[in-house]
Amino acid sequence: KAINLADYTPPVFLVDEVALDFTLDPAATIVRATLNLRRQAPGPLALDGRDLELLSIKLNGEALGGNRYVLTESSLTLDDVPDVFTLETEVKIIPETNTELSGLYMSGTGFFTQCEPEGFRKITFFPDRPDVMARYKVTLRADQSKYPVLLSNGNNTASGAAGTQIWATWEDPHPKPSYLFALVAADLVAVKDSFTTASGREVALGIWVAAGDETRCGHAMYALKNAMKWDEDTFGLEYDLDIFNIAAVSDFNAGAMENKGLNIFNTAYVLASPATATDADFQGVERVIAHEYFHNWTGDRVTCRDWFQLSLKEGLTVFRDQEYMADQFSAAVKRISDVRSLRATQFRDDAGPLAHPVRPASYLEINNFYTTTIYEKGAEVVRMYRTLIGREAFRKGMDIYIAENDNSAATVEDFFAAMQAATAIDLKQIMRWYEQAGTPEVSFDESHDPAAQTYTLTLRQHTAPTPGQPVKQPFMIPVAMGLLDATGRDIHTETLILAQPEQSFTFHNISEPPTPSLFRNFSAPVKLQGQSRQRLAFLAAKDTDLFNRWDAMQQYATLVLLDAVKAHQAGQAFALDAGLLEAVTATLRDAARDPAFAAEALLLPAETLLADAMSIVDPDAIRFVREAARKALGETLREDFFAAYAQFAAVAASDVSGHAIASRALKNAALGYLSAAGDTTLAGAQFLSGENMTDTLAALVNVAELADERRDDAFASFYDQWRANALVLDKWFSVQARAGAPDTLARVQALTKHKDFDLRNPNRVRALIGAFAANPSKFHEASGAGYQLLADTIFTLDETNPQIAARLTTAMGSWRRYDTARQSLMKAQLERILAKEKLSPNTYEMASKALA
Ligand code: ARG
Ligand code: ZN
Repeated sequence: KAINLADYTPPVFLVDEVALDFTLDPAATIVRATLNLRRQAPGPLALDGRDLELLSIKLNGEALGGNRYVLTESSLTLDDVPDVFTLETEVKIIPETNTELSGLYMSGTGFFTQCEPEGFRKITFFPDRPDVMARYKVTLRADQSKYPVLLSNGNNTASGAAGTQIWATWEDPHPKPSYLFALVAADLVAVKDSFTTASGREVALGIWVAAGDETRCGHAMYALKNAMKWDEDTFGLEYDLDIFNIAAVSDFNAGAMENKGLNIFNTAYVLASPATATDADFQGVERVIAHEYFHNWTGDRVTCRDWFQLSLKEGLTVFRDQEYMADQFSAAVKRISDVRSLRATQFRDDAGPLAHPVRPASYLEINNFYTTTIYEKGAEVVRMYRTLIGREAFRKGMDIYIAENDNSAATVEDFFAAMQAATAIDLKQIMRWYEQAGTPEVSFDESHDPAAQTYTLTLRQHTAPTPGQPVKQPFMIPVAMGLLDATGRDIHTETLILAQPEQSFTFHNISEPPTPSLFRNFSAPVKLQGQSRQRLAFLAAKDTDLFNRWDAMQQYATLVLLDAVKAHQAGQAFALDAGLLEAVTATLRDAARDPAFAAEALLLPAETLLADAMSIVDPDAIRFVREAARKALGETLREDFFAAYAQFAAVAASDVSGHAIASRALKNAALGYLSAAGDTTLAGAQFLSGENMTDTLAALVNVAELADERRDDAFASFYDQWRANALVLDKWFSVQARAGAPDTLARVQALTKHKDFDLRNPNRVRALIGAFAANPSKFHEASGAGYQLLADTIFTLDETNPQIAARLTTAMGSWRRYDTARQSLMKAQLERILAKEKLSPNTYEMASKALA
């Protein structure tokens, strides 16, 4: 049954206060809940509840007989109730059999929760919807020897012991929706620190991890304090409790969760040391720590009315974490890497059967909508608000948004109203970005009139149909642009607004035909078309906008690689394009000026990006051509790459400063080209000398391409060294799954039987199966064995963890883009999944939509 945005009705009852009492036991946890309810509208009281055994129920202190309520698989309904009353329920739940990792579950020997979006209903009967905000008082009781640490939201107001049991009471003064409830009961140790807010509140900070992991929490703690300060400085937002705890758990479906005052994190986004985590991991920790912290205001204090508004908190909070990260390192490099992944994932989804708007109109299973569209495209929409109205008005709009919606459950319209109140520009049309799916394509024409000294730019937008949306209305598109003279100087800069299907803009006092630089800093999530190669080469060399300089080079490389794919398909030998060689040479020789930028610019467009530009994807030809280009560049520029490798090698293994990260990125980009050109001794030596995981892994990635004993020895020794460290072992699995070596598929098949492969652990599943599905030429191997491997995994996993099974299913979403043989192989696997008995609604939704 589909849930529709148009069907929203306000809750019949609100809950003002809730008291929860947990007696924790893996096999039988007892949850007593006391709800103070208040009627808002006529009708029965309907509470959500799943996998709960109801032990007793009382209304205003009086036990209720079975004739007073109706119990179904997913609800508890009471027809005849007063307008204001207290309801007490007692239920039994079984955390140890909860493999979905939603609700209360066990990881290792501890108890953890994940309630967003609908996990709270697996803990107790409750109106489990975000527009019911209550104040929580929670008491936890557990065996002291096994679960010495008892945490929940808010402040710890009382604790005690009784025999072998301990108990703790936590009270959260802020009203919150049930999805922000959390508890932890486990044997953990804390790394502690404190932060004083701008107005003088002393906040006790704790990061709770398994004993032995406390040495890898330094970066997370640094990031937390830095993010707290940044939100005060940038948005005037201060923390609002005396305690902020983070607990790390190794079995977790997502990256992390913003529960009020008690964030719960996947260990992958907490633990980091230079010996065990790559520079990208360090940045991932910082980004996610900041993201979850920022949710305290954009998510917790101001929450969502319903799950259709998910991007209201996620798009905004991703935008905030992007801005935070841009302020830590290089803003241009951050923008480049964000856009790279937006194009690789969101653009692809937006062009296929799973495309959906930033605010979907309907869903079967909300867990399927934690997507790059809701998150990353949602962040682009927030960014467009700011580009359109300017930084000052945007900050004013944020202030209004928080002030008007504090302690309430808001909608996308509330955010719009706040921004509109802060500007004179009519923003009405921006709402289409929330309503219409698809990536607009923008093309342009230009003319220069030497007599009148005018230059006219005509912009056109078009958006292809997406499922359920055959006709698109024009979007409101901010076009940040500049006009360059022949020397590359900006003679004019402006942000145009393209709101019609076609619009012309005339610029005066333009004596020579200029070169336009459009969508600077990626001012809108669109595809710009029709730029000539000469233009792209000029912009790649000269644009004052770093993002566009990078982008011009990428677009140029895409065009020449696609040509090479055609030539390869026609049986011609690969020839390196002279312009590409020239651009790479220039980048390399200029690398010292900005190594982080140069490292990005040296990366050729990903195989998936080249695939997106083909009408019938040929994964083998794409892989062949991209590797041939890397090899040819490596051979031709061998001396330069060696020089760059040497020049950027002198960085201490323990240094994770921006400078060190940039140096390693450049050095390892050079290593990649040299390895592609056959210089494998360098990678082998770097692998052996590594005390820094970035360097070790970069070397291993290159060694993984060799299908001989050098590779096998390297993986064997890496395994021996790191078998006890789950996060590093994940890397061992994923590097093998991502390899281009000819035997990758067979190796991945074997790895699914490895004793350390565990379908119960989402990180491990993502490391092996997720990584393999993202290896285009191996996953799409012509026999269809890659599809079979994925489908087999989905089949089994659907029974224990449908969220992750459904997520994996999306890898076959673009099946129509391939040749007919691959199409029918993928289609057959999707149909096989759909025919499975007792298929979860999660996987059903993804497989059926992929086939539709
Ligand atoms: N709200 C969390 C975050 O983005 C993610 C929760 C993920 N939940 C899920 N069902 N996938 O910070
Ligand atoms: Zn989030």
